[in-house]
Parts: sequence; structure tokens; C-alpha cells
Amino acid sequence: MTEFKVTPWEVEGDIDYKKLIEQFGTQPITEELVSRIEGLVGEVHPFLRRKIFFSHRDLDWLLSMYEKGKPFSLYTGRGPSGHTHLGHVLPWIFTKYLQDTFGCDLWFQLTDDEKYVLSSNLTLEEIDTYTYENTLDVIAMGFDPEKTKIFSDLHCAKSLYRHAIQVAKKVTFSTAKAVFGFDNSTNIGLIFFTSMQSVPAFLPSIQAGKKVPVLIPCAIDQDPHFRITRDVAEKLGYYKPALIQSMFLPSLEGPDSKMSASKANTAIFTVDPPKDARKKVLNAFTGGCQSLAEQREKGGNPHVCTIFQYLYILFEDNDDELEKRKQRCLSGEEMCGNCKKYLADKVEEFLKEHQKRREKAKGMIDDFVISD
Ligand code: TYM
Repeated sequence: MTEFKVTPWEVEGDIDYKKLIEQFGTQPITEELVSRIEGLVGEVHPFLRRKIFFSHRDLDWLLSMYEKGKPFSLYTGRGPSGHTHLGHVLPWIFTKYLQDTFGCDLWFQLTDDEKYVLSSNLTLEEIDTYTYENTLDVIAMGFDPEKTKIFSDLHCAKSLYRHAIQVAKKVTFSTAKAVFGFDNSTNIGLIFFTSMQSVPAFLPSIQAGKKVPVLIPCAIDQDPHFRITRDVAEKLGYYKPALIQSMFLPSLEGPDSKMSASKANTAIFTVDPPKDARKKVLNAFTGGCQSLAEQREKGGNPHVCTIFQYLYILFEDNDDELEKRKQRCLSGEEMCGNCKKYLADKVEEFLKEHQKRREKAKGMIDDFVISD
């Protein structure tokens, strides 16, 4: 069994998601929960049907509140250390579905402060550039401007700090060490930072002047922060935020590594020229055999194939089509080249559309972004 590691700043190895649920102490997304959501909004996103969002905290509680007529707000975010890649987009697609179906407000945090204290080379000015670039991607997702607020920690420090300091007072260094693995060489900016990531979970309540339930959609790497947030929430007079957590979109180099901006050739960025992204897909790791003859005889292995993973996770909503492709692969009828082209077309199409919306977003910043 390969070792794996998942923290907000490091994801490594062949992740056993079942084990991760046990390690982190979260709950699995069950069929019952999926049916309950279907009953409420009539439409289940493929991410739920396929358990791409596989884990949660207090989602059952949140749905009970909703059923009793207590609406919830959404909170998610991005650390602007580079351009947005397709992995980042995954939770945002789901967040948009939640906003559309449940009619929620969305609070979107850009943690420029986090990325500054974490980075060994980025200047604040460079991070400001990515804050702007990432904001365009968020707006391009099509969130409702009437119901969405995007804000960066550095540009909203005055409003956020007042609440962050209240969180910080309740978190000891020993807790932060135990949760994040900090040691004596960790800079104190990073030790404090988790207080800033907690605050937006309370902003809907602060704004409304009463307790508002909050749901945080994200990949599971962010869970450690929200263990702390949930720990302090009630002490500060708020509900604990609920979470719904996804798996990682792998990098194109193979199933054991998540898509990461530090590996540019195996990550697809939203700003990649579509033709370049196509080349990345055509060079991706597959579950194919060494030769076509061997593949025809033995079949391929969709379970380790990044192309199949991308179709399963993001690019093929049609269950029948996906199953047929899998069977053709297993039986040796389908060759990797065809699957690569099929995915490459879809990725190119996605990027072209996204980049058009990204251009339009340049004129919409003021509809979404708030600052002090
Ligand atoms: P960041 O910028 O690392 O990631 C942004 C969002 O993308 C998710 N994510 C992925 N999802 C699927 N596949 C991947 N390969 C992948 N890589 C990253 C992350 O889980 C996250 O949801 N500190 C945060 C910013 C933040 C935040 C939040 C995120 C502030 N408040 C609330 C989620 C919820 C960060 O640096 O995310």
C-alpha cells in the first residue's frame, strides 16, 4: 500500500479516499444523502451521482435546516499563487450548481496573504496580479452577481482582521501544530493564517445579525483549516460550517499526483491556448499497453488512465457513453489515441468558451469584488 499525504499545502501519493475519511473524521456521501438532495432540488449534479464529492461534515444537518425553511450561504475560495487550473475549477462548477439550485449567496475568498507567507519567491505585487487573473476565472464561472461577493484578504484586511483576531485568540499553537504539522521553522504569518480562512464562514451571520448556516464546497485538502473553524465557531456564537468535499483531479502524468500548478506540462490552465492544452492531453499518461497489437489482445486499464479519469470527473456527463468507452477499452476495441482525441476536443471546447467568458469578466469586476 503506497503512503499518501493530504494537507492544504501538500498532496502526495496514491490517495485512498476511504482511508482519508477515517483519518480526517469526515462522513461519506451516501446514496441516502444524494436522494435527499434530489428530493429537494430535483436535479443531482454528476459530481454527486459519481461521488466526486465523496465526503462531508454536517451536510445532513444543513439539509434539515433547509427543510425547516432556514436557507444557507455558500463559502469557497482560492489562493492566488498562479494561474487557475482545471482542478481549481472543479469545486467552482459544483458551487455554481449549488448556488443555482438552492439559490444561495456566495462568499468567495482570495487568500493572497496565505500565498505570500507560503511562497519562497512571489512578491506581493506578483500575487496581486494572480488575484486579478483568478478573479476573472471565478467571474467566468457564471455566478450570480446579485448573490456573489469576491474579496481578497489583503484588500479587505480592515473588515476581516477584527473577526480573525477573535478566532486567533481561541486557537493555541499546540492545536495549530497538531492540525498542520507546524514546527519551529514555520513563519508566524502561516501560523496565524488559518484565522483568516475561518472568517468568511461567519460573515453571512455577521452581515445578517443572526446565525446563518454555511456550506463550504472544496476539495478535501482544505479540511484541516475548517476543523479549526468548526472548533471555534460555537464559542464565538456561530453555527459550525458544513462542508462538502471533493476528490482531486489528477495531473496528466498519472493517477498518483493531483493536478498542480508547479507541474505546468501536466496541468491544464484556464489561460492555456487551446491548441497547447490539446498537446498536453495528447501526451497524457494512459492505461494503454506498449503496442497496439498487445492492446487489441489484452485491452487497456481505464482505472489508471488519466484520460478516462478526466472524462469521468469533468468532461463526460453521459453515463452510458462513459460505460461504453470503458468496455471498449477493457476489451481492446478502443485505442488510446481515439480517447485522447475525444478528450482533447472537449478540453479545447471548454477553454474556448471559458476564455470568451473570461474576456467579458474584465468589464464585470465591480459587480462582484468588494474591498475596504
Ligand atoms: P487553492 O487555491 O489551493 O485551491 C482552490 C480550490 O481548488 C481545490 N483544488 C482542487 N480540486 C480538485 N482537484 C485538484 N487538483 C485541486 N487542487 C486544488 C481546493 O480544495 C480549493 O477548493 N486556502 C485556499 C483558498 C480558500 C478556500 C476557502 C478554498 C480560502 N477559503 C474556502 C476552499 C474553501 C487555497 O489556497 O485553495
